[in-house]
Amino acid sequence: MTRPFRSVLYIPGSKERALEKARDLAADAIIFDLEDAVAPDEKVAARATLARFLTEVDYGPRVRIVRINGFDTDWGRADAAAFAGHGGVDAILVPKVNAPADLDAVAAVAGEKPLWAMMETAAGMLNAAAIAAHPRLQGMVMGTNDLAKELGSRFRADRLPLMTGLGLCLLAAKAEGRVIVDGVYNAFKDEAGLAAECAQGRDMGFDGKTLIHPAQVEICNAAFAPSAEEVDLARRQIAAFNAAQAQGQGVAVLDGRIVENLHVVTAQAVLARARAIAALEIGAGRIAVGAE
Ligand code: COA
Ligand code: MG
Repeated sequence: MTRPFRSVLYIPGSKERALEKARDLAADAIIFDLEDAVAPDEKVAARATLARFLTEVDYGPRVRIVRINGFDTDWGRADAAAFAGHGGVDAILVPKVNAPADLDAVAAVAGEKPLWAMMETAAGMLNAAAIAAHPRLQGMVMGTNDLAKELGSRFRADRLPLMTGLGLCLLAAKAEGRVIVDGVYNAFKDEAGLAAECAQGRDMGFDGKTLIHPAQVEICNAAFAPSAEEVDLARRQIAAFNAAQAQGQGVAVLDGRIVENLHVVTAQAVLARARAIAALEIGAGRIAVGAE
């Protein structure tokens, strides 16, 4: 998918100030949360507040995703029903997906909306391939806090305890051509820590990262955009390969490295990604970060 999902910002559905502020933030997508960021006695009011904001506020090019409560709670079904036909919503995010049947249940009340799955339980990790193959699924979101809680793992900067789960979900999403975004970085004032975790997720192949605070957006956008060096290398690889082909050769050599057809496919994807980001930022009147 060429649509950028570098930065995906959570906003509690109950926080009007934050719902307002999101119009001016350079997040590629927003998760409007009704689940864990909203206290139980605020759930019903938050649903109504959110429905109103999504009707009245123009969030521009940002993809609008609503995270509903689970169907094992008092609110999940009513959440799904409330946003199933809402014109201001692009997709519904289902929490704690353990198996494809959890998506079937939501699909039955979510109208035509594409579904996203929170991947955050041990069962979900083991069923990732089947979840990714669900016909209504568009994207996966890593829920690393819940996963760590379920595993009983400790926080480590290198995220070693989470690597099996992250890797399984990444493989599952890529096998089915789904979008997949990484989990949140809790210490929202720690910019260096965030940048390091963004770089790790990007290097693994995630499309982007979920965020909890506006201060995280710019760092994340820069990390998940192709760098100027990557764009330059992609251009030169394509040129070198074309030149080699014109001379009847199937491979080229650039900077002492082989360039084959598969590298050209990757290089074209890098350029397409950079173009999509530039188009989004011009369209939204944003300041370009890290693109061409
Ligand atoms: N989206 C949009 N705006 C946000 C925001 C968010 N996630 N988090 C904070 N803001 C806004 C605040 O409203 C405030 O706006 P203002 O200065 O114009 O009034 C500004 O950004 C600065 O906020 P700050 O005071 O630094 O943060 P805080 O202490 O009020 O809140 C959190 C910190 C972590 C509680 C808050 O960022 C938050 O609720 N994040 C989302 C949590 C969430 O959704 N979790 C569920 C998934 S993990
Ligand atoms: Mg969770």
